[in-house]
Amino acid sequence: MSDNKKKNMMINVTFQPSGLSAEVPAASLLTDALTAAGIFLPLDCGGNGTCGRCRVMVSGRVAEPTAAEKHLLGHEQIHKGWRLACQTKAMGDLQVRVPETAETAGSSWPIDESDVRRIKSSAPLIVTVTCEPSPPVSDDPRSDLGRIIETILEQTGTDRPHADHLTAAELSRQARLLNWRFNAFMRGSELVGIAEPGQAPLGMAVDLGSTKLAAYLVDLGSGAVVAARGRLNPQVAFGADVVTRLQMALRQKGDGNRLTVLIREALDRLAGELAAEAGVLRSRICEMTLVGNSVMAHLFLGLPLEQLGAPPFVAALDQAMNIKARELGLCLAPGAYLYMPPLVGGFVGSDNLSMIMAADLDRPGSCRLGLDIGTNTEVVVTVPDSQTPLFIASAPSGPTFEGAHLSSGMRAVAGAVARVFIQNGEPVCQTIDGSRPAGICGSGIIDAMATMLEHGIINHRGHLNPALPRVAADSHSIHYVLVPGYQSATGQDIVITQSDISQIQLAKAAINGAVSTLFALAGLPLSALSEIVLAGSFGSHFDVANARRIGLIPGISGAVCRQVGNAAGRGAQMMLNDHESRYRALDIQKSVRYVELTSLSLFNSVFARSLCFPE
Ligand code: FES
Repeated sequence: MSDNKKKNMMINVTFQPSGLSAEVPAASLLTDALTAAGIFLPLDCGGNGTCGRCRVMVSGRVAEPTAAEKHLLGHEQIHKGWRLACQTKAMGDLQVRVPETAETAGSSWPIDESDVRRIKSSAPLIVTVTCEPSPPVSDDPRSDLGRIIETILEQTGTDRPHADHLTAAELSRQARLLNWRFNAFMRGSELVGIAEPGQAPLGMAVDLGSTKLAAYLVDLGSGAVVAARGRLNPQVAFGADVVTRLQMALRQKGDGNRLTVLIREALDRLAGELAAEAGVLRSRICEMTLVGNSVMAHLFLGLPLEQLGAPPFVAALDQAMNIKARELGLCLAPGAYLYMPPLVGGFVGSDNLSMIMAADLDRPGSCRLGLDIGTNTEVVVTVPDSQTPLFIASAPSGPTFEGAHLSSGMRAVAGAVARVFIQNGEPVCQTIDGSRPAGICGSGIIDAMATMLEHGIINHRGHLNPALPRVAADSHSIHYVLVPGYQSATGQDIVITQSDISQIQLAKAAINGAVSTLFALAGLPLSALSEIVLAGSFGSHFDVANARRIGLIPGISGAVCRQVGNAAGRGAQMMLNDHESRYRALDIQKSVRYVELTSLSLFNSVFARSLCFPE
């Protein structure tokens, strides 16, 4: 058969354990077949064949292994059927097993109970009006909207109440279904939705992270969270970090659009799931707040990306926005709005601003440091008695602490090693849920590094001691066996390689460099620091003493640490239904000096000096 004929032939690829399948042209990459089947496997390196995280087991006809597969998997693994989905071409009908430990988009992510709090608004944005307009009869031929508006006017005296034509069309149907007795939800003078009498409006606050979506459904009457969910961001199928996704979107216009559609659809699904969990109609959701870093915000809104992908890394726009939710494909109340707070600068977005608000870093006080450690670590330094009270930068720390770029890394979900210590010379690993270990997550790798330093398994330069029993070498690297294969959930050794240690060193050096640079620019010595605020789910779960031991956070005596959970998500809840918080967001944006680190020689020199662990 000629090559052209082979290419045009369609083949069937079935994935287990989901049973989902896709028809794709022969010679398609398995990653394309996965996407066609609706399975979004995280591609940490963006499918470049460098991370080895897209391992799948194949049975059927596939193309010869690529050089990247030979290097990352080795002959024995390939012989057993393991292949890299981003490298392997399907040549005939195939069965593909996605490891059960692999997460796919839609995988749920736990929301910490401490992040689910009642936040009462002091200046509500959405006001409820009890309405009972008289139904139309032949001697009262007013329009549906006309009679609703007149009732609202009589009840509230609101200046020129109104609704747009699409909202009016939907309200006309709903008013009849509710027999002309309902609660009307007003956003200023605009009617945005109605619900049964006695029902309060709902709001949805979203923290759109590069890795995780956290969403909270809030009763806007009481401020109580009625449902909360976390989901893996489906964009992980296009790269673990924002830079990889940005590059992918810039390479091909279509890829940018796909990323936009993916995230909008995921949020719409989340709205439905939250409403179902709370047993309410999603048409009661009148307001949504979304916070995220600049790349996430641009991808969500479908804004131009070119200017964000090259120095001086500027946003297309940075002001707060109110957009009709339906224009973004979100099916909520007919007139519902999405509010996006202002962006800070560069890659630092409204999630950071939201964290500042929730952690009160904008309130006057002593010198404090805020860290939201993630793929990009947002660093905030508060400068007392200054015209510019907040210095902010984004440190390129990489996705290491989210388990990516580590040979046995995984996200902080069931099976992840989250605590490590050494007892009688042997490592003891505790997983998040007490199950057999499947990999190691961010908090586990911090413990492991601190413990290995303490016991001389690595020295302060990060070099493994090859003379020790658990330190082994193979054709790829020298590594420390944390959990032997016979004790792990996957049957594979859980190891920490020399290159994993380098990844940790690079991440911590980037954060150190950002902190020192901001203090220097603010004219403050590090010793002025009185408090370190650790935000985000990772920042709230690692062992602070071990993080200090490896130099991830400053070891200033007298500086207390406060772990504040998902402060960005909490800030999004604060801004959901509160005028004051939205004004406060604008004030924070004006109080910030954003520092672009990449061009600063000071950052680069501190970065180089911080690669070693403290002695
Ligand atoms: S090696 Fe396939 S995604 Fe990285």
